Amino acid sequence: MNICYSLADFQEALELLPKDRKIAFVPTMGALHEGHISLIKTALTHSKYVVVSIFVNPTQFNNPDDLARYPRTVAEDCKKLKAAGATLVFIPSVEDIYPKATNKAEQLDSLVFDLGGLDKTGEGPRRPGHFNGVAQVVTRLFDIVKPAYAIFGEKDFQQLAIIRYITKKLGYPVEIIASPTLRGEDGLALSSRNMLLTPEHHAVAPKIYKTLKGALNAHPASKPTPAELTQWVVETINSEPLLKVEYAEIVNSLTLQIVNSWEEAESIQLCTAVFAGAVRLIDNIKLK
Ligand code: PAF
Repeated sequence: MNICYSLADFQEALELLPKDRKIAFVPTMGALHEGHISLIKTALTHSKYVVVSIFVNPTQFNNPDDLARYPRTVAEDCKKLKAAGATLVFIPSVEDIYPKATNKAEQLDSLVFDLGGLDKTGEGPRRPGHFNGVAQVVTRLFDIVKPAYAIFGEKDFQQLAIIRYITKKLGYPVEIIASPTLRGEDGLALSSRNMLLTPEHHAVAPKIYKTLKGALNAHPASKPTPAELTQWVVETINSEPLLKVEYAEIVNSLTLQIVNSWEEAESIQLCTAVFAGAVRLIDNIKLK
């Protein structure tokens, strides 16, 4: 496994791969856990050339404290990637990704993306600029890595939908592959942020997925409307004093617009963001 700490090194390493290679690409922000390793396993089913990037992208953080607190564990990450069978690891600098920024105080990237309205619900209004930042970094990485496949986790359901949209809209010849959410035995979705949880918050966080599963199993006889079910989810999670729901929304899986009835869409997803102390956790479940 080759580790490249600069764009120049990475481009040299790419040159050494066969010309007809089809790269399977796993973009990450590091602090790797089993969820990321499962993305790499998925990547390996598509190609033997698996490229992983580790880059904590400043433009997708709307909260500077969140960026400062984001866990950074590059040495351990590289060990895990080697064991998982990655071919190349790309660890660029901010300047490698945003070469047009002339100083740190300046906006790093001014590109504004059409996100097809997919950012109007969920994370979008709560994290202004977040998805535009994701679009900036993912398109820049696609330009550099030129993958045939790119693998993203279903835990970030809205991110996955937005990346699919921009990839198609901008005509990138990249197949976007969704990889299922990996969970601990307690049901908590694996996330790099979990390592920031206090033991007390960690102990109660599984209530989030337990509640989502409860919503999925809501008894048909009680026939809750999407709005009633949403309210139940919020109240159930909030009944744990250490958890605070930021939002719970039941949306059309394709347009991500909130649905008012179960007949409104063929495929429906329940998405939520919950604060466990200072740590913000997201999760989702397919209801239909
Ligand atoms: O999901 C993530 O870890 C990030 O949003 C991504 C896709 C690597 C872009 O920075």
